[in-house]
Amino acid sequence: MSSQRQGRRKTKYLCRKRRRKGLKARKVKATFPPYEMPYTPRDDQLPFHQSSAPIRYLRGGVGAGKTIAGAAEAIQLSYDNRPADGMLIAPTWNILTRVSLREFQKLAKPWIMAENKQEKWMEMCWGAKVFYASADNPFSLEGSNLGWAWLDEPRYMRRESWNITNARVRGHFPRKSIILTSTPSMGWLYDEFGDCSQDEDREDFLIRTADNFYIDVDPFLARLKKSYSEAVYRQYVNAEYGVIEGAVFPTFSTDIHVQHDLEMLGYPVLAALDPGYRKPSSMFMQVFPWCHRHNVPDCLHVIGEINPDDTPTSQLAPMMRQLCARSNWDCTTCYVDPAANARSVQTGIRDVDIMEHKDNKFICEWTTDPACRDIPNGIEAIRSKILDAGGATSLYIDSHLMGNKRGIINALQMSQYPKRREDTEYKEHPLKDGEFEHSRDALRYAIVNLFDIGASLIGTV
Ligand SMILES: Nc1ncnc2c1ncn2[C@@H]1O[C@H](COP(=O)(O)OP(=O)(O)OP(=O)(O)O)[C@@H](O)[C@H]1O
Ligand SMILES: [Mg+2]
Repeated sequence: MSSQRQGRRKTKYLCRKRRRKGLKARKVKATFPPYEMPYTPRDDQLPFHQSSAPIRYLRGGVGAGKTIAGAAEAIQLSYDNRPADGMLIAPTWNILTRVSLREFQKLAKPWIMAENKQEKWMEMCWGAKVFYASADNPFSLEGSNLGWAWLDEPRYMRRESWNITNARVRGHFPRKSIILTSTPSMGWLYDEFGDCSQDEDREDFLIRTADNFYIDVDPFLARLKKSYSEAVYRQYVNAEYGVIEGAVFPTFSTDIHVQHDLEMLGYPVLAALDPGYRKPSSMFMQVFPWCHRHNVPDCLHVIGEINPDDTPTSQLAPMMRQLCARSNWDCTTCYVDPAANARSVQTGIRDVDIMEHKDNKFICEWTTDPACRDIPNGIEAIRSKILDAGGATSLYIDSHLMGNKRGIINALQMSQYPKRREDTEYKEHPLKDGEFEHSRDALRYAIVNLFDIGASLIGTV
């Protein structure tokens, strides 16, 4: 049947308004416009739509046009595989309703006949159902046989969601497909799609942010350059896979980032603490909304640290207060690990209570936002302060901290990613070396609390 005739076909559906009012459902007849691709793809988006591979990955930069292409292709797949059901999947309910489902409903508006928000499906005028689910609850992905599925931003999903989706899309349908639209990531996405050339079933397509002429691209790229380090800019804007191996902070250089006399006398000082009995770390810093010395906004100067071994918080907190008194620092706020708010199993006392005790006089701050607590996000926030993709540096460390065994300078120089083993998945987490991770963590807590890292999220959202 031609799409013209299909569109003109009279379709019956149940009147939901009547049903809600408790009246007997009545059949209603309606006509729907003929089906046609609901948007005009750019030249670089077109091959994704034209491919006949059953599994297709549209790898794109942020704002490159992944979601719009995914939504349009999902509608096409629902039409081509009618009356088979399909499913839209986004990493969280928030992203689903704010972004992916919204784009789908915007493009598919003429053909959506009914929606059941409780059971989370839409019915298309060609008799197919489209379910929607968020991947943070993998059980919600279980269900009937699907003819197709669309995963938007699977870089934030666990591999389990991919496995479940793969198992659900089955049966004989004309264009049985799974489509994925995402910025690249070095986790399971890389393992599955890093090299599609060997696999007949899979194809990957590349679109770049810079080629999206539908947005005001130059100011957008300038803003992204400020939020990302060079390596992550290549990954999230140019959509290249960045192999994370070796140094975690490769652009850190003692020649650039370690300087004399960074302290500004009389200016408030902030503290950060990674508590722990064996290897606690604390540091002191000043933050300048505009730094006249380095001519950058939001510049952070680390001006002190204490990293003693085998020292409980009950001893470290007075040591920190004494250093403040000796150095004449006006210091109250201390950024801590959110775990510092938990009671110790041995003593039943919380680290924050010790810090805030009247003798120590700190006020602790921490964030429970999962995006800020996510380690790869925090590491990227440090990296973009060391050197953002626009070439600006806004993190400096005072030279008198040079040579401290577990100090921040060593931590930034020595932090490594674990060597990749063939049988393990990529993880964007630095090695837990037991030595340098604590100083690095203290700096991370300070940075994610002090600055808006919203634009540079690479891990949890
Ligand atoms: N072919 C197109 N036709 C019309 N508008 C387009 C097209 N491609 C991209 N756009 C527009 O570009 C903007 C970004 O698209 P979209 O949200 O799909 O990108 P994205 O890569 O999913 O972004 P994000 O990384 O934020 O998820 C949107 O306003 C979208 O409407
Ligand atoms: Mg998107």
